[in-house]
Amino acid sequence: MSALRTDSPQALRSVVVGTGSSLPAQVVTNAALTERVDTSDAWIVQRTGIRQRHIADASETTSVLGTRAARAALDDAGLTGDDIDLVICATSTPDHTFPATATQIQAALGIHQGAAFDLQAVCAGFVFAVSTADKFLTTGSARRALVIGAETFSRIVDWEDRTTCVLFGDGAGAVVLEARADAGDRGVLCASLRSDGRHREKLYVDGGPGSTGTTGRLRMEGREVFRFAVGQVTDVIADAFAQAGLTADDLDWFVPHQANRRIIEASADKLGIPREKIVLTVDRHGNTSAASIPLALDVARRDGRIQPGHLVMIEAIGGGFSWGAALIRW
Ligand code: ACO
Repeated sequence: MSALRTDSPQALRSVVVGTGSSLPAQVVTNAALTERVDTSDAWIVQRTGIRQRHIADASETTSVLGTRAARAALDDAGLTGDDIDLVICATSTPDHTFPATATQIQAALGIHQGAAFDLQAVCAGFVFAVSTADKFLTTGSARRALVIGAETFSRIVDWEDRTTCVLFGDGAGAVVLEARADAGDRGVLCASLRSDGRHREKLYVDGGPGSTGTTGRLRMEGREVFRFAVGQVTDVIADAFAQAGLTADDLDWFVPHQANRRIIEASADKLGIPREKIVLTVDRHGNTSAASIPLALDVARRDGRIQPGHLVMIEAIGGGFSWGAALIRW
């Protein structure tokens, strides 16, 4: 699925006006994990680039982390909950099967207008959510959206399985998107989204309300995921560049899903994106699934790398498989 932006001067565009993020206080280093499973700091760093992850305590549910990130994004934008009429939370680890985690974030922020719903595309959830919010905003269906990625993967990881438990962490990130008619060339330029459910067995959770009646645990064929992530995902990136009439040379920042340093660098190399244009935060928080891109965006914006006018690509692949890329003129 792709969406080409019109260039009419009156056309509404979805502009990023604020970012925020939140990580639980508890840090678990690679060394600490060696007390739990047969692994080593050297193995984890060499294969993934991950040095530590943040793990939520019992009180820190996905909505709690999501609310903190959303509040930080609202503060950054100089807005309050009264200004928001759409809340989308990308998550695979909702507080409850229902209601939507987005509604709990909405309530915690005192937002009583507009719609709130969750979006499930696993690690690609934030890209799908940005693209979805963009459609609400550019059609005039909403004026300002909170787009959140929030996860507590520590609750679905099998802590006995060294092949997966070392990879994941908890966290949340958020952006505020605003519909503007005077944005010039700023805003979400385009997105390209794909899914192919035939790959279910390569990355899934072995439970759910409609099957086992349990939450289940994450299962993954790591090598297959790696191969697909590097080999196939470039189609959405190429499509996004083609839609926008831009190339990798035009890019200021590549902000991919923070799953694994080797996947990220191999993808960038294949696309001709120089390493210095990659925003890499996976070392500090591991794979936080749908939260990883807004976490990385918030870091790079607050440390001054991402500036107004910069061209930013976000890109991710997750279970399903589902994958996508979007180009944003900041
Ligand atoms: N510590 C030490 N040794 C380990 C660990 C560990 N945590 N995990 C596996 N090993 C061992 C294996 O048992 C195997 O041992 P053996 O040779 O004696 O059988 C050896 O290390 C090599 O295992 P491989 O699975 O071949 O290792 P690989 O180089 O493929 O690295 C990894 C594994 C890091 C999971 C890699 O496949 C990968 O990055 N895959 C992508 C997975 C990913 O990022 N998923 C995130 C979710 S999807 C997404 O967000 C895109």
